[in-house]
Amino acid sequence: MKLAKSLQNIKPSYIREILSAANSQGIISLAGGLPDQASFPLSLMQDSLSNLTNHPSLFQYGSTAGYAPLLEYFKQHYQLPSSHEGLVCTGSQQGLDLIARAFINPNDKIVMEAPSYLGAIQVFGLAQAKIESVSQQADGPNLQELEACFAQGGITLFYAVPDFHNPTGVCWSLAVRQKVAQLCQQYDVTLIEDVPYRELRFSGEEIPLVSNFCPDHSLVLRSFSKIATPGIRLGLVTGRADWITPLNTVKQAADLHSSIPMQAVLLDLLQHKEFPDHLERLRKLYRERCQTLIDNITHQLPSYCRINKVEGGMFLWLLLPDCNIDALAKAALTSGVAVVPSSVFYQETNCTTSALRLNFTNANEEELAEAVQRLAKVIKEHC
Ligand SMILES: Cc1ncc(COP(=O)(O)O)c(C=O)c1O
Repeated sequence: MKLAKSLQNIKPSYIREILSAANSQGIISLAGGLPDQASFPLSLMQDSLSNLTNHPSLFQYGSTAGYAPLLEYFKQHYQLPSSHEGLVCTGSQQGLDLIARAFINPNDKIVMEAPSYLGAIQVFGLAQAKIESVSQQADGPNLQELEACFAQGGITLFYAVPDFHNPTGVCWSLAVRQKVAQLCQQYDVTLIEDVPYRELRFSGEEIPLVSNFCPDHSLVLRSFSKIATPGIRLGLVTGRADWITPLNTVKQAADLHSSIPMQAVLLDLLQHKEFPDHLERLRKLYRERCQTLIDNITHQLPSYCRINKVEGGMFLWLLLPDCNIDALAKAALTSGVAVVPSSVFYQETNCTTSALRLNFTNANEEELAEAVQRLAKVIKEHC
C-alpha cells in the first residue's frame, strides 16, 4: 500500500527509536523523558488496584468524556468555570492529536516556539499544518516575533509549553504570560497550553497558567505521566464546552474512551492523603539530581558549554559551540551515553543551535556524574 501523503514527511521520533539502544547494557541514558521508576507511587495505588476486581462495572464500556467521579474531581480541583468541561484522554499526547484532528485543516497556519516538543511537531505535521516558528528566549517566546506572526492573520492556534519547556526547561515569566494572553485575545488565536511538567517545580514561586488570563481563548492539556506513572496513559484536556464537544466526537472515533479502571485508580491516587508527600519527595529528588548534573557539567565540561538554570521539569539544555550535533550525539551513544541532539526539536532544517537535551530524572547521581564524564571526552573531540 502507498503511504498517506500526510505521513510522507513525518520523521519517526528519534527519541523513541534510540530508546532500545539507550536501554542497552552499559549505556547511561539522559535521552528519554522518563520519570524515576523507583519513585512511582505504586504503594499508594496498591489498595485501589487490588480492589478493582470488586467493581466489575469499571471494566464495562464507559463514557467517552471519562469516568464521571474523576471528571467531577477535576472540575473542583482545577476550579473550572461553569462554562468549561474536561475530557480524559489516553495521555496528554492523545489530547493534542484530538485537537489537531478537530480544529486543523491541511495548510492551516499554527504557531510554535522553536525549539519545540517533538511529539507536537509530529502531530501538527500529520495534520499537514503549516508551522510558523517563533524563537524562544530565557523568559518565554520572543513577543515581537509572536505579535508579527499573529498580525499576519489566519493563525489557527499557538501551541506552547510555558512550564519547564521540553526541551529547554524554560519557564515563562508572569509578564510574558499576561502579554501572550492579551495577544491571543486581541488576534483571536487559541492558545494550546501543554503543562505536563507544571507540578514538578522544585524552586521559585508558582506562576499562574497563561490560560487564567484568557480562559475562553485556550485549551489546557494536563498529563498524569510525570506525577503518577506514564504507563497508565492518562491525560486531561479542559476548556470551553463548545470546544470540548468536537474533541469528544473525535475521541469516539479514535478509541471510544480511555481505560476506566485506570481512571478509578488515578482518582484514588490523587485523593490519597499521602499524595502531596509523594509530590514533595519527587520534587526534592529531581532538585537534587538536577543540581548534581549542573555541578558535574560545571566541573567537567569545557567552559564554552552553557546551561540555563531551571526551576523544575526534567531537562537541561546544554548549549555548545557550532558543531555537527547529530554526529556528536551518535558518538556519545558509542561512548556509552545517550542524549538528544537539538536538531530533533526543530522542523526540517531550521536548527541553527547546537545543543543537547539532557534528562536528569531517570539516572541516579553516580550515573549522572559518569554520563557527564563520558560526554566531556566526546564534546572535546567534536567542538
Ligand atoms: C511537552 C509534552 N507534552 C506532552 C507529552 C506527552 O505526555 P503523556 O505521557 O501525557 O502523553 C510530553 C511527554 O513527554 C511532553 O513533554
